[in-house]
Amino acid sequence: MLTAEQKKQFEDNGYVVLPDFKSHTELAALKARANTIAAGHDFDASKDVFSTHAQRGPQADREQNYFLGSANEIRCFFEEKAFGADGALVQPLAQSINKIGHAMHDLDDVFSDFSHSEKLAELAADVGLGQTQIWQSMYIFKQPRIGGQVDWHQDASFFKTTPQSVTTFWFAIDDATLKNGCLWVEPGGHKSPLRQKFIRDGRQTKLIDLDDTPWPDTDCAIPVEVKAGTLVCFHGFLPHCSAANISDKARHAYTLHVTDAACDYAPQNWIQRSKEFPVSGFV
Ligand code: FE2
Repeated sequence: MLTAEQKKQFEDNGYVVLPDFKSHTELAALKARANTIAAGHDFDASKDVFSTHAQRGPQADREQNYFLGSANEIRCFFEEKAFGADGALVQPLAQSINKIGHAMHDLDDVFSDFSHSEKLAELAADVGLGQTQIWQSMYIFKQPRIGGQVDWHQDASFFKTTPQSVTTFWFAIDDATLKNGCLWVEPGGHKSPLRQKFIRDGRQTKLIDLDDTPWPDTDCAIPVEVKAGTLVCFHGFLPHCSAANISDKARHAYTLHVTDAACDYAPQNWIQRSKEFPVSGFV
């Protein structure tokens, strides 16, 4: 699947960019399904916001239950800036959802078709994954005007395996540009230490600092502007972030977080599966 040069890019830089990985037909099917799920969200039952930096508010227990319950369900989260001071949506519902997570790849036929294929299995093998395990799917809307920034982080903080194996498969559903909040990465940054880990302890979750290596600055980070259909595949230690979407169009993306079954998956990881709902691989 990958050329020798692309394999070397992944090893040296911690990521590889694969244009035209998905067809326009596949993108359109996934986008339509995501929009249908978002439009069907029960607005009155849940107004939960997803943010990588906000403090949890007075609804903390209920919000935490909604978040934890999303591990193996299909749930919608609002943009942080979706609501005005009066509590009403500032944009229509369809332009207010931040993301859908986190098990559509196993629970929804359209998402499942998009997320499982021989082509993905071949790519996974080329970047060093043996028997793949897809733990999480996220459909990210990055809504126009209110689509929030995602702070610098490493995805391995959320999916610890020993040895490290988590790899991110990031699909551009729309063109991703500087103006609409494309990914930023630090080429080679996957060789830096893991800075934080996110663990679950009962009903509690916490982000624990592990290493004080600074996050990248503008000198060493680069934007990854890509066309719709592109797959960006990156190492779990690669620092990445995205800016807010200040354009007037949404910037949809879809991600899968995948580990190697030969590595030990930490029991403290917030997403766990049971015998009744086992984790699936690409094929
Ligand atoms: Fe990430």
